[in-house]
Amino acid sequence: MASSSSLLLAIASILLACSSLSTAVAGNFYQDVDITWGDGRGRILDNGQLLTLSLDKNSGSGFQSKSEYLFGRIDMRMKLVPGNSAGTVTTLYLSSQGASHDEIDFEFLGNLSGDPYILHTNVFTQGKGNREQQFYLWFDPTKLFHTYSILWNPQHVIFFVDGTPIRDFKNHEANGVPFPKNQPMRVYSSLWDAEDWATRGGLVKTDWTKAPFTASFRGFGATDTCVWSSGRSSCGSTPPPSGGWYNQQMDSADQERMKRVQQKYMIYNYCTDVKRFPQGLPAECSLP
Ligand SMILES: *[C@@H]1O[C@H](CO)[C@@H](O)[C@H](O)[C@H]1NC(C)=O
Repeated sequence: MASSSSLLLAIASILLACSSLSTAVAGNFYQDVDITWGDGRGRILDNGQLLTLSLDKNSGSGFQSKSEYLFGRIDMRMKLVPGNSAGTVTTLYLSSQGASHDEIDFEFLGNLSGDPYILHTNVFTQGKGNREQQFYLWFDPTKLFHTYSILWNPQHVIFFVDGTPIRDFKNHEANGVPFPKNQPMRVYSSLWDAEDWATRGGLVKTDWTKAPFTASFRGFGATDTCVWSSGRSSCGSTPPPSGGWYNQQMDSADQERMKRVQQKYMIYNYCTDVKRFPQGLPAECSLP
C-alpha cells in the first residue's frame, strides 16, 4: 500500500515536472508579448499558447516582446500563410531603436499556391544592412509549425531552421566590421503586404479575394537570454560566461550541416553579388 502510493507520488511528480518544463519552453504569449498594431487582426488564443496575425486590404498586424535582450537565443514556432500567399511577408526579427540600430531578420516571402516561399535573412549593424541571404526551405512551411531560431551572442549571430544552422554572421570587429553587441533588442513579428517586391520581385501581386491571410505562432522561447532592464543586463539561471549558448560556436558538424543546406537551398548571397558592390564586396565576405 505504502509503496504503491509512493509510486503514484513519484509518477505525479514526474508528470508535474514534465508539464512545467513544457510550459517553460513554450512560454505564454500573454506574458511574453504585446500585440502592437493591426486593430484586432493580431489575436492571442488557447490560453496564451497560440497567436495569430492576419492581413487584409486595410492592414496587417504585428507584435513585439515585452522584454528587451542583450544577447540570447530566441525560438519561435511558426506556420505561414497557406494557399495563395503571394505578396505577403511574415517577419520574425530582433531590432534595437534609432537610426543607427542593429537588426537581425527572418522574412518569409509568400508565393502562389504550390510555389516555394523564400526565406530572406539580413543583418543590420549600426543602421546599415545590405547583407541579404535568401533560401528555399526543404519543407512546406504552411502545413506544420516549424522552429525558427536566432542565436545571438558576443561572437556569432546564427540563424537556425528546425535546429539546422543556415547562416552564421561572425564577429569580425577586429577587421573593422561592426557587430551588434551594444544595443539591446526586442523581438518583433509582423504580417504585412509587400506586393511591390515580395513575390518574383513584384511580378505577382496579392490576390485580395483570398484575404484575410493568417500566419500562426506557437512556443515563443526566450529562456536563454540576457534580459535588459533599466540599463542592466541579467542572464537568468545560466549566467554567462559559463552558460552554453553565450559561448556557443559552430562545431565542425554544424559547419558541415550549414554548408550542405547553403549548397542546396541558398538562392541569393550578397557575398557573391559582385555587380552590386563595384567598389568591392563587404569585408566580412572574404574573412573565414
Ligand atoms: C515563387 O515561385 C517562383 C516560381 O517557382 C520562384 O521563382 C520564386 O523564387 C518563388 N518565391 C518567391 C517569393 O518569389
